[in-house]
Amino acid sequence: MHLTPLHVQGGRELRGEIAVQGSKNAALPIIVATLLSSERITLHGVPRLSDVYTILDLMAHLGTHHSWVGPNSLELHTPQIVNTDAPYALVSKMRASFIVLGAILARAGKATVSMPGGCAWGPRPVDQHVKALRALGAELSEDGGNFDAVRRGSLSGHFIFELLTVGGTHNAILAATLGDSVVTLENASIDTDVVELIEFLNRLGADIQGAGTNTLTIRGVPHLRGGEYTVIPDRIEAGTFMMLAAATRSCFTVTNTRPDHLRAVIGKLQEMGVDVTEEGSRLTVDARNRQLKPVNITTQSYPGFPTDLQPQMSALLATVPGTSVVQDPVYPDRLTHVAELHRMGANITVSGYTQVIQGAALHAAPVKAADLRAGAALFIAGLTCEGSTVIDGVQYLNRGYERLAQRLQGLGANVTQNELAPAAD
Ligand code: EPU
Repeated sequence: MHLTPLHVQGGRELRGEIAVQGSKNAALPIIVATLLSSERITLHGVPRLSDVYTILDLMAHLGTHHSWVGPNSLELHTPQIVNTDAPYALVSKMRASFIVLGAILARAGKATVSMPGGCAWGPRPVDQHVKALRALGAELSEDGGNFDAVRRGSLSGHFIFELLTVGGTHNAILAATLGDSVVTLENASIDTDVVELIEFLNRLGADIQGAGTNTLTIRGVPHLRGGEYTVIPDRIEAGTFMMLAAATRSCFTVTNTRPDHLRAVIGKLQEMGVDVTEEGSRLTVDARNRQLKPVNITTQSYPGFPTDLQPQMSALLATVPGTSVVQDPVYPDRLTHVAELHRMGANITVSGYTQVIQGAALHAAPVKAADLRAGAALFIAGLTCEGSTVIDGVQYLNRGYERLAQRLQGLGANVTQNELAPAAD
């Protein structure tokens, strides 16, 4: 869907408070995990994003009924799996939906899921998902662009991931939760979104030990019950707003945060000379009247500096005098923001996954987001400069930031956007 562009008039100080939505990347696997139970489940703190609507479309095809029972509360119910396939038309809209493979396989014993394909910044393989499921006893074959998976009995055994993967760990956990055997996963991701999935499943009666460590022990249980769960605040959205405060040399408070999930981000902002004050779940970021310092950043798996904040940090550093070096080995091609920031006067030289950034004042220009976090980098950049920055590609921003224009207006920002219409139910 193509939406009318976002109009950003920057160059003014922002102030006040902005509340962080529930986490997109925690909510998506939790929504998928409800496929493992035949009982009703209510989730709170679910952001109303196009990615959430996409996964709900896919789950409706699989047999899930859903209804919004509050602004961000979603009731889900899958009495039975009515289709065991996830077709390309649905999976290709969002790579994250590939984890339905593990969930359908667990609940129905077989699954056919389309290969997810690439994205705007590279191939993003799923080899670890496939190796894990095979090592645990699932039979997987590739045919006509699909993965066909079957399990004879419960998954069991041991797998060591060759690298840290959030989605691969999700898929293996979902596949192994139901049954009567034991699965051990080593070198598993310790990302907050993995910890959340485990806490959610354990709340419904799963037996998964080791959340937040690299070794997970999953003892299969015969079924999961229903229940309620509240999704954690979105640490990437919180980080985006913190970078916005720094880039616009403003002072405002980001509320509904988990500061313990943001240590790497807070540390880097402090190293730049930004003041960050913590008060429970509130983070006040103050960058007024100061000469910020350039910094070097390399993205890593959690708890390192997140790749999902690399484009936004690059936009911020593009405004900071001096030389900063930003490296993103997690996604070496995640660079679609660079050419657009060049249009706004940024001085960024790219070599491989390394950006060398010479800070300077940016100027308004028409730009286009090619993916979600590049879009975030562009609205941050736009809000630093006077004049009108027109950002096309708003459909990507709506994948990750709920009612963005409206919420930024609450900080005094001059941003207008045609909102994505909320789904009818
Ligand atoms: N990888 C492999 N093989 C695999 C799986 C991953 O080589 O089988 C590599 C990837 O290419 C990447 C690294 O492992 O270099 C980490 O990928 P991971 O599997 O952890 O990523 P993901 O689960 O596909 C999630 C988020 C992304 C975020 C990454 C990294 C969701 C829905 N997506 O993706 O979020 O960038 O973790 O933290 O949770 C976003 O929100 O903008 C976004 C892209």
